[in-house]
Amino acid sequence: MSVFNSSRLLGRNVLVTGASAGIGAAGSNVILCARRLESLKAVAEACTTAHKESGVKEGGNFPIVQLDVSDKQQVASLLDKIPENLRKVDVLVNNAGFVLGVERVGTIADSDIEAMFSTNVLGLISVTQLFVKEFKTRNAGHIINVGSVAGREAYAGGSIYCATKHAVNAFSGSLLRELVDTNIRVTEIQPGMVETEFSIVRFRGNKAAADKVYEGLQPLVAQDIAEEIVWAASRPPHVNIAELFVMPVNQASPTINYRGGK
Ligand SMILES: NC(=O)c1ccc[n+]([C@@H]2O[C@H](COP(=O)([O-])OP(=O)(O)OC[C@H]3O[C@@H](n4cnc5c(N)ncnc54)[C@H](OP(=O)(O)O)[C@@H]3O)[C@@H](O)[C@H]2O)c1
Repeated sequence: MSVFNSSRLLGRNVLVTGASAGIGAAGSNVILCARRLESLKAVAEACTTAHKESGVKEGGNFPIVQLDVSDKQQVASLLDKIPENLRKVDVLVNNAGFVLGVERVGTIADSDIEAMFSTNVLGLISVTQLFVKEFKTRNAGHIINVGSVAGREAYAGGSIYCATKHAVNAFSGSLLRELVDTNIRVTEIQPGMVETEFSIVRFRGNKAAADKVYEGLQPLVAQDIAEEIVWAASRPPHVNIAELFVMPVNQASPTINYRGGK
C-alpha cells in the first residue's frame, strides 16, 4: 500500500513491530518484525509490489526480522539482525499487541495475563529502551506507540487488556515528558475498532465470534491506522503529535456504538 509516500519520509528507516498482520501490515518501506516468518514474507512481498507501483525511487527495502518482543534476548540482539545500511532507525512503531478472551476477573488464566502483559507492556518497553538509548545519542528519532481506546476507558471483560493499554498510555506520557529537552518525538495512537486479526486472536480462532464484534457497523481498517501513523511521522520536525484518538464514525467509546447504519 502506498501510504509511505510523504516526502518527509523518503529514504527514512522505519521499524515496525507486529508487522505480520493487521495495522502493521499496512505500513510500508520498513523493517518488518513479528513472530510469524511466513506472514512477514507475504507482507514484505506486498510492500515491494506497492513500492514498485508507486514509482517512488527512495526506500523500497523491506527486510523481515523474526522477533518476539516479549523475549528479552531477542530484543537485545535486534539491532544485529537488521541489515547494516538500515540500522539507523528514524521511526520506531511499537505496534505488536493483542487481547485474549473476555473472561471476568477471578476466572482469567494466569498464562493469558502474563502473555498480554509481556507483549503489550514489557515487550513495548524493552524495544523502546533499546531505541531511545540510540535516539538520545543522535538527538533525533520518533517513537510511535499503538495504544487503544481501551487505554482511555476500561470496559467489562477486558480488564487485563485495558490495564496493558493504560500502561502504554502512562509509559508514553512519561517518555514524552522525559524527552521534552530533545528533538525526539513521542506519539501514542489510540484506535477504536479496527477489523484485523485482533478479534480472531481474542476469540482464539473463532471467526464467527470475531465477526460479531463488527456486525452492523463499519469498523476501521488497518490502512486507516497506517495513514494516521504516516501522518504523525511526516509532520515537520518541530511538530509532535502527542496523541491521536481515532474511531469509526459509529463508535463513541469501547461500549457505545450504533449498529444500524451498515
Ligand atoms: N484491532 C483493533 O480493534 C485495535 C484497537 C485498538 C488498538 N489495537 C492495537 O493495535 C495493535 C495491532 O493490532 P492489530 O489490530 O493489527 O491486530 P493483529 O492483526 O492481530 O496484529 C497483531 C500483530 O502483532 C504481532 N505480535 C503479537 N504478539 C507479538 C510479539 N510478542 N512479538 C512480536 N509481534 C507480536 C502479530 O504477529 P505475530 O503473531 O506474527 O507475532 C501481528 O503482526 C495492537 O497493539 C492492538 O492492541 C487494535
